[in-house]
Amino acid sequence: MVKKKSGYVVAILGATGAVGKETLEILEERKFPLASLRLFASKRSAGEVMSCQGKEWKVEELTTESSFAGVDFALISATDAISREYGQRLGAAGVVVIDDSGVFRMEADVPLVVPEVNAHALTAMPRGIVSIPNCTTTPLVMALKPLQDAVGVKRVVVTTFQSVSGTGAAAMEELMTQTKDLMSFRDTKAEVYPYQIAFNLLPHIGSFNDGGDCSEEVKIARETRKILEAPALRVTATTVRVPVLRCHSEAINVELGRPLKPNEARALLAAMPGVIVYDDPAKKLYPMPLDATGKDEVYIGRVREDESITNGLNLWVVSDNLRKGAALNAVQIAEHVVRG
Ligand code: A2P
Repeated sequence: MVKKKSGYVVAILGATGAVGKETLEILEERKFPLASLRLFASKRSAGEVMSCQGKEWKVEELTTESSFAGVDFALISATDAISREYGQRLGAAGVVVIDDSGVFRMEADVPLVVPEVNAHALTAMPRGIVSIPNCTTTPLVMALKPLQDAVGVKRVVVTTFQSVSGTGAAAMEELMTQTKDLMSFRDTKAEVYPYQIAFNLLPHIGSFNDGGDCSEEVKIARETRKILEAPALRVTATTVRVPVLRCHSEAINVELGRPLKPNEARALLAAMPGVIVYDDPAKKLYPMPLDATGKDEVYIGRVREDESITNGLNLWVVSDNLRKGAALNAVQIAEHVVRG
């Protein structure tokens, strides 16, 4: 798909956004073999300079006239409209497109990949597009995969506590501005979210369907079944936006196929690549968003039996949504494609 070479041309569509900035850091940290970088954003950011791997790269305005000649990889994290327009076009032109939107995730001819869980799906990319999951699905499937392999998973009930960075840079700014306003006894306003997010939480992510589910809840269920290749898996989700800047947390209840003691579950989870079990209630050790911020791993704690059902297990999972939930997962996929 991509010819082996010493360096690759990588385009980032949405380079100035919360995920785009993180992608630059991760390309640098992981020494991704770059020949050059092409950074794209809207007109308002054109001309800005960003640094990566010791060089400065100028941001270009993304337009229908933009040329992508010579580009090997396009990492897209901008808007759904941009994914739709450029994902399709660049994939057809032979660029490996790694897309962070929900536009292609459920399409049968687009793999939806978390490399630690289903890297094998990368062998078939007929449209040149691979999607990365929603930033809450990724840590969920990383926690479920070792349990599924060992004893089977029948039903999952998940409640998420999602930071504002999942909405983007403007939402992070809004949380900080509202907090400063309120701490200074000033009136504040909500622009990104329908209600004030500071000192509050919103049980609403995405749009509501006729049944009252949020689109985020529907995505989690469908994406989890696709990645785990478990079409009959029962999954129900409640997604909540919380006044946290970074990291998504999830309370997960699992009905397993066979009995599993919490210690056995901890051992299985600890053996999963990319997972750290951080779980010692006696020492008040459990993962929190501030611990996981800037970290690559998915942290799991509060592993305990749910005695209200047969073979029930409760977990608490925290992961940096901008890293494993988005930019890191995308770069890991590019590394996988490079390795062949
Ligand atoms: P810009 O910073 O110029 O607005 P976030 O998810 O943090 O809000 O980031 C969204 C990213 O998508 C930013 O890099 C933003 O660029 C980019 N973007 C948004 N709308 C457009 C557009 N119409 N054309 C190109 N890039 C866009």
